[in-house]
This record gives sequence, C-alpha cells and structure tokens, in this order.
Amino acid sequence: MKIAVLNGSPKGEISVTVQYIKFIRKKFPQHELTLLNISHEIQKLEKDDKAFQNVIGEVEKSDGVIWAFPLYVFLVASQYKRFIEMIGEKKAAGAFKGKYACAISTSIHFFDNTAHNYIRGICDDLDMRFTESFSADMDDLFDDEKRRILIKWAADFFAAIENKSPTSKAYAPVVPLKFSYQPGSIKSRVDCRGQKVKILADITDNNSNIARMVNRFKDVLQDGVQLYNVRDVDMKGGCLGCMQCAFDNVCVYKGKDKFMEFFNEEMQDADVTIFASEIRDRFLTSRMKMFWDRRFFYGHIPLNIGKQIGFIVSGPLGQLANLQEILQGLAEMSEANFTGVVTDECGDSAQLDALIDGFAARCVDYSEQKYVRPSTFLGVGGHKIFRDQIWARLRFPFQADYKFYTEHGMFDFPQDDKRYVDFSQQMTNMIQNPVMRATVRKMIKTEMLKGYQKVVETK
Ligand SMILES: Cc1cc2nc3c(=O)[nH]c(=O)nc-3n(C[C@H](O)[C@H](O)[C@H](O)COP(=O)(O)O)c2cc1C
Repeated sequence: MKIAVLNGSPKGEISVTVQYIKFIRKKFPQHELTLLNISHEIQKLEKDDKAFQNVIGEVEKSDGVIWAFPLYVFLVASQYKRFIEMIGEKKAAGAFKGKYACAISTSIHFFDNTAHNYIRGICDDLDMRFTESFSADMDDLFDDEKRRILIKWAADFFAAIENKSPTSKAYAPVVPLKFSYQPGSIKSRVDCRGQKVKILADITDNNSNIARMVNRFKDVLQDGVQLYNVRDVDMKGGCLGCMQCAFDNVCVYKGKDKFMEFFNEEMQDADVTIFASEIRDRFLTSRMKMFWDRRFFYGHIPLNIGKQIGFIVSGPLGQLANLQEILQGLAEMSEANFTGVVTDECGDSAQLDALIDGFAARCVDYSEQKYVRPSTFLGVGGHKIFRDQIWARLRFPFQADYKFYTEHGMFDFPQDDKRYVDFSQQMTNMIQNPVMRATVRKMIKTEMLKGYQKVVETK
C-alpha cells in the first residue's frame, strides 16, 4: 500500500519523530511510506504552488495518511498548522476525503492530548477515516515493549485500510459565527492606574470583528495600553526546533530577524498581556502560533509570573473545548492569572461592548491587586512534567532552564517535604499496632479537619 506521511517536524528528516516512521517502514517493507517534509518545507509550499500540489498529489495517490509530528507548545508546530490552513485556502480538502488516517507524535507528554485532539478534529473536518492516535514519549523507541506496541498500532492501521474497517468521528463540525460587531460609543473609560497592558493581535482586516473588539478594548483603557499586530512582528519563520537557545536563551534567528528584541523589549514588561486572534479551523491563526513557538527561546521558563494573561477571540470558541483548554493552559504555564476570554459569540453588539468593557476593568483590577487564582490541573500537572524533565532528561541541553528552576525554587519535589514525609512515617509506624490501627481509622475524618478548623476560627 502507498502511505503518505505528513512530517510535522521543522527539523525535516533530522527528527526524532521520523525515526519512528523509519522504524515502522523497516517493520512493514511491503508498504511504501512516502515522507513529505511539511514543516521543514513550509516556505516553499507557501510560495510555490507546484510544490504544494505535489504534496496534495501524494495524498491523493495514497491509500492512507499518517500525520507524524512533534508536539510544539500545546499543539503542532506553526508550520504544520499553516499547512492545514492552506489545505482550506487552496481548496485541497478533496484529496483527503475518505482516506484512512492516523496520527503519531513524539513529545514529553506535555499537552500531547490537546495536539492529538486538534489533529483528530482536522481529520474529521477533512472527512477522513481516522483510526487511532499514538502519542509516544520521545524515548519510547529505546524500549522493547513500547516498540512492540508501536508495531501493533501500525499493523492495525494498515489492516484497517486493507479491511476497509468502519471508523467514526470524534468531533462535530465547527459551525462558524454570522455576526458583524458594531461597537457603540464608550460611556466611561478605565484608568490603567500604572498597569502596563500589552495587546498582541492578529489583524489582517480592519473591518473584522477581531479588529473591532481589539480596538474597543484598547479605547476603553485610558492610558498605558499598547497594541501590536503580530503580522508586523519581524519573524523570518517559525521555530526550527534547533535548541540553539537552550544554553542561554538566545534564538538562532538573532541577527536575522527582530523577534527576540521585540519580545524582550516590548512584551516582557507587560503587567497584562492580551492575545487576540480569530479562530482558524480549530485553533487561532498559525501566525499567532508562530509567535508562541518562537517564545520557546525561553525554553520551559514561565514568562509571566504573577501577571495577567487574557484572550480576545473571534469565532466559535464555545464549540472548541480543546482550544479553551489550551488558552487556560498557556496562561497557567506562564504562571500568570488566567484573566479570561472574551469572544463575539453572544452575537449582540451592545452585550459585546459590555463584555469587553468589563474585561478591561477586570484586567486592570486583577493586575493592581496582584490577583492570581490557583492553577488547575493544567498548570499544576504541566509544572510537574517540566520540573521532572529539567531535573533529569532535559537538564542538558536546557541549561538556562535548569539555572532558572534552581534559582526560583521550581524543583519542588515532594520528597523534600520533610513535614509530610516524617509525619507519614510516624503514622505508618503507629498503625502497625492493631489497637492503634482501629483507633486511628475512627479518628481520620475528624483529626484531618483540625488544622482547617483552626484557620477558620483564627484568621
Ligand atoms: C519549540 C518546541 C516546543 C515543544 N513543545 C512541546 C510541548 O508542548 N509538549 C511536549 O510534550 N513536547 C514539546 N517539545 C518536545 C518535542 O515535541 C520532542 O522533543 C519531539 O520528540 C521532537 O521531535 P522532532 O525531533 O521530530 O522534531 C517541544 C520542542 C520544541 C523544540
């Protein structure tokens, strides 16, 4: 069978993910796996229609498609996202329709679920017959049992094509909004009270809802607010995944474009950062994604500790739980307060005015009050993954991360928490005695509350 492999690594074939594909290719010599270096070649695919059509031709000719990608910042790399946008723009979706598809990623399992949900949703939108996702840890290939599972997964994919196995969809189609926002006059402005508010927006049409929403937000704030269009930020390309930044947070693009300077000089001092974008397919725009990927020159360092991060989004976010999770995860992993999201889904201009005005006031108030709500599983779980990775496997090459985590007490392993460890040991010893075991068992519920009750009484 002919299988088209859409390689999402910006590193082209010098990629961990590609080794998984090469391993599958070796184990199934009867099938022809054609590797298409989508992310690595994205600029060519954008400029040269023949090159793009060549990829589409390979998909057309194939019996099945493997979406093979590394995780990049909660999703696929911006280059891969751009390719997905181009499938729609260039009306090439027909080539994918009815094809069997599966997805394989390599990563450290940080928000691999959201990336796979996204690709699955795209396959459903393209009317593909999706079998199964496979989210490998980047080092799974070293393990006998994990290789066995990988072979089984690939075998099942090929068998599904051969047997024309039935498949089902995971996601309903996204229904676009039909609403033109007409902002009303501003009744009262919000004083920024010294808080620096920075908006990074993707605006390509000044008459779009997103442009009007952003302008409303900006105009409601009296001073101290700055608006940047991500289209004007000098980025010569997406993150290359080269890890040249890992020692000292200097991007390989330094001297070639001005992204590093822009980020360090314009964005880093924000008290409130607002990202504003339309929804394109099931995410924001690939340009916004490029900005987030390029921030990776700071590796795994949280970039907005104690600050505010919010979003202005035009489009049906309510239908995209996966994207909602990413937005919240992005804020929490930055160690910022997730200030919230305003969208135009209410479909009523006066109501949207009020939502934006309220959001602007909240941003300033939260910032002034240094209000940072506790993180959810997204931030708490994500931190633990990063902490463990930077401590061991990624300590080299991510030297700058290691230094930052050490200096900021981010290696907060529970084994260092002597209070709980010692207490648990004492109690474990105590309950070896059957009488004590029965007594303690009866007391657990009430004893557990004593500390909390004391706080309620005294604070
Ligand atoms: C810019 C960048 C962003 C990344 N973001 C994530 C991420 O969000 N989640 C994750 O688990 N791994 C992330 N990784 C790790 C890669 O997914 C992982 O190393 C992968 O195996 C690289 O595959 P490749 O060599 O095929 O490009 C990131 C790596 C880079 C360079």
